[in-house]
Amino acid sequence: MASNKPTSSFFFLLLFLSFNLQSSSSQTWIRAGYWASSAELPISDIKSALFTHLFCAFAFLNSTSYQLLINSSNERSFSNFTNIVKLKNPYITTLLSIWIGRTESTTFSLMINQTSHRKSFVESSIKIARLYGFHGLDLYGVEPRNGTNKTSLATLLDEWRAEVVAESRNSGKTRLLLTMSTRSLPIVNSESYPFDSANRSLDWVNIVAYDYHVPTLDRFTGFHAALYDPLGRANTDARIKEWLKRGFPAEKLVLGLPYHGYAWKLVNSGDNGVGSAASGPATTIDGSMAYWLIKSSIRNAGYGVEPVYNSTCVVNIFKTGSRWINFDDVEAIKAKVSYAKEKGLRGYIAFQLSNDDNWLLSQAGKIVISP
Ligand SMILES: *[C@@H]1O[C@H](CO)[C@@H](O)[C@H](O)[C@H]1NC(C)=O
Ligand SMILES: *[C@@H]1O[C@H](CO)[C@@H](O)[C@H](O)[C@H]1NC(C)=O
Ligand SMILES: *[C@@H]1O[C@H](CO)[C@@H](O)[C@H](O)[C@H]1NC(C)=O
Ligand SMILES: *[C@@H]1O[C@H](CO)[C@@H](O)[C@H](O)[C@H]1NC(C)=O
Ligand SMILES: *[C@@H]1O[C@H](CO)[C@@H](O)[C@H](O)[C@H]1NC(C)=O
Ligand SMILES: *[C@@H]1O[C@H](CO)[C@@H](O)[C@H](O)[C@H]1NC(C)=O
Ligand SMILES: *[C@@H]1O[C@H](CO)[C@@H](O)[C@H](O)[C@H]1NC(C)=O
Ligand SMILES: *[C@@H]1O[C@H](CO)[C@@H](O)[C@H](O)[C@H]1NC(C)=O
Repeated sequence: MASNKPTSSFFFLLLFLSFNLQSSSSQTWIRAGYWASSAELPISDIKSALFTHLFCAFAFLNSTSYQLLINSSNERSFSNFTNIVKLKNPYITTLLSIWIGRTESTTFSLMINQTSHRKSFVESSIKIARLYGFHGLDLYGVEPRNGTNKTSLATLLDEWRAEVVAESRNSGKTRLLLTMSTRSLPIVNSESYPFDSANRSLDWVNIVAYDYHVPTLDRFTGFHAALYDPLGRANTDARIKEWLKRGFPAEKLVLGLPYHGYAWKLVNSGDNGVGSAASGPATTIDGSMAYWLIKSSIRNAGYGVEPVYNSTCVVNIFKTGSRWINFDDVEAIKAKVSYAKEKGLRGYIAFQLSNDDNWLLSQAGKIVISP
């Protein structure tokens, strides 16, 4: 009997500890990825055990009603998304991502500018999220500097949060998660993003930490997703620091990882460093290349042509003839995930899953352990 006592109190101690761990589970490390309906990857092929959160992309805004809109061609796949990805990971959390990219930004600005428009958006988004079985909603590509009224954006985020809280109370269901994915534009002044409201009303912010230099815009070679740059060119570390400097909590930032790279066509194949003259994109219309396509180009290039990893900037570079490609290989992904852990960020989010090469990058991200 007596010998049972310590055992049972030890058991209760364990129970207590695990309860405490569970109650902080909203702060668990996030391993997320976007699935794009436009890509070829069947939902049933997603290895959801590699992730904690999956983002289904994209829903749109109706430009006349400001309601959330799912294209009819996507209705079937979106409505089955959560159930299908749960088959391989019953604990997976899914979010519906709403495109606020450049083409949609006018509609977005008009939506956030008026109370009745915001109400249409907020109510329809919650209704659709529930109807389709998602656990949350994400705004993708918010660019507060261009035509977006920061005050209105802040109001939208606060109203959205208030409404998901109220809906959860009324329905008895777990509250929907709310996130925003912002291009990590250089922050010129503190007017750029509504930091306070984002902190208050969003569960976290995904940093779109890629596409800094692209061959359609830049007539010189450049790193599209460098983690660091000793010469001060566009880099992720500098932009993360901008958010932290303004008091935005690190544990509410999730680092975006690109599963694509960019190919430039060099003007002179002998001049092939960073910042070399380029005449535009190579290989594809905009020069963007899926990781699997880059890997296959490397294999096809034959002996003697190897990509190099630049650990100073955390980027992989592959040059063949007049083609100059930069991308994130396994080394870069691991270094970025380690960075996210060191800085106390909330996790990472891959864009997007169909670009991976047989889940290599997703596996690389998963196995990185805390420093
Ligand atoms: C957008 O909303 C308007 C007004 O409610 C509706 O008539 C129209 O069909 C909607 N568009 C789409 C593509 O659903
Ligand atoms: C969905 O509909 C929007 C608006 O009608 C359109 O711009 C977009 O190309 C469509 N996207 C897909 C993936 O079908
Ligand atoms: C997908 O959803 C539709 C109804 O929206 C259903 O008829 C169909 O069986 C589902 N497919 C799968 C694979 O779950
Ligand atoms: C916002 O609405 C006001 C009037 O309600 C209008 O004057 C202003 O131009 C609108 N701003 C934008 C960015 O649409
Ligand atoms: C924002 O607007 C300015 C001026 O209209 C333009 O030069 C810039 O390219 C825009 N930025 C983005 C990211 O679209
Ligand atoms: C921005 O929104 C605020 C509050 O909604 C409003 O007072 C202000 O006039 C708006 N500015 C513009 C340029 O629309
Ligand atoms: C963010 O929220 C936390 C707690 O909710 C608070 O401690 C912190 O000061 C807030 N930061 C900003 C920039 O509002
Ligand atoms: C990595 O790239 C940076 C920027 O172009 C350059 O300064 C540095 O020398 C490179 N490092 C290596 C090891 O190639």
